[in-house]
Amino acid sequence: MARDADTLSPQRADDDLRVEASLRPRSFDEYVGQTEVVEKLKVFVKAVKKRKEALDHCLFSGPPGLGKTSLAHIIAAELGVGLHVTSGPAIERKGDLAGLLTNLAPRDILFIDEIHRLNPVVEEYLYPAMEDFRLDVTIDTGPAARAMKIDLPRFTLMGATTRTGLLTSPLRDRFQIQERLDYYEPKYLEQILARSAKILGVRLEPSGAEEMARRSRGTPRIANRLLRRVRDFAEVEGDGRITREVADRSLSRLGVDRGGLDPMDRKILLTILEKFGGGPVGVETIAAAVGEQRDTLEDVYEPFLLREGLLNRTPRGRVVTHRAYEYFGKAVPQGPQGALF
Ligand SMILES: Nc1ncnc2c1ncn2[C@@H]1O[C@H](COP(=O)(O)OP(=O)(O)O)[C@@H](O)[C@H]1O
Ligand SMILES: [Mg+2]
Repeated sequence: MARDADTLSPQRADDDLRVEASLRPRSFDEYVGQTEVVEKLKVFVKAVKKRKEALDHCLFSGPPGLGKTSLAHIIAAELGVGLHVTSGPAIERKGDLAGLLTNLAPRDILFIDEIHRLNPVVEEYLYPAMEDFRLDVTIDTGPAARAMKIDLPRFTLMGATTRTGLLTSPLRDRFQIQERLDYYEPKYLEQILARSAKILGVRLEPSGAEEMARRSRGTPRIANRLLRRVRDFAEVEGDGRITREVADRSLSRLGVDRGGLDPMDRKILLTILEKFGGGPVGVETIAAAVGEQRDTLEDVYEPFLLREGLLNRTPRGRVVTHRAYEYFGKAVPQGPQGALF
């Protein structure tokens, strides 16, 4: 069961690192979908390349697995600059940040994943670095202590976060470029799956790709991961080809239903539906009832269920929609206590 849960989670698991590296798009041309965002970024990249300047600071937001880290790698490659990767929680002290910043070459990119999780002291220390490309440091301690300013090379700070709302506004305001990634339409996931199948040597038929694309929660990372699991079924129980039928059967056994919901999606909806009369119910209460972290609920599950029109947020809490009742073949309750939407 743990294995299925890992397969279905959009968050990165350890064994993804290796495979993701092989499947990661290497250039804008290989990066499928997110067309508007990519078109804009291409222009910005081209412009600064021509001027030989550092790219403005960029913030990418969106649920896990949609391609934020991939974009950072692509932009660094297109610019021909160094990419230094770290994450909010990894930068514990000011000194850690100073170390990172003073090691940058001009125009390099410092990528901070989960930037909303920066320690506030470190975050404040980052402001002058972003704005004026300088750091205030204290040399020595005690009576000999002196304040000094260190000039930094012009660099690009690239931040990734699940929701921009999690950032403090002073930090958010310092990013001149802010782009939101959205869930992928099935047609794009089909292309991503076809490309991954080719790289991995998997025989994925178009009908199989279509079925898998529809049931990957709009998320490339999940699509790629399901491809590896469905391939196992195809090779062990069939002739290795992933047809629609093989995809359908394998996905159902992995817990992904025909509507594309995974076990946690269903658990969340059914909990609200059956234990809380359809809502409204607070997110903390739901988290406790389904045994999931509140953050994961808000960053991973809710955005997808909202987009699918199965869940709504109201000031008094979460409610399931008419569509959710229909999804589970339940009668939509009538009257003021019933489903609100
Ligand atoms: N636009 C895309 N085109 C092709 N593959 C993608 C795209 N976005 C993401 N992927 C695939 O999904 C994986 C996870 O993407 P990643 O950039 O790590 O997501 P995030 O950083 O947003 O969690 C990548 O390794 C890649 O295989
Ligand atoms: Mg990432």
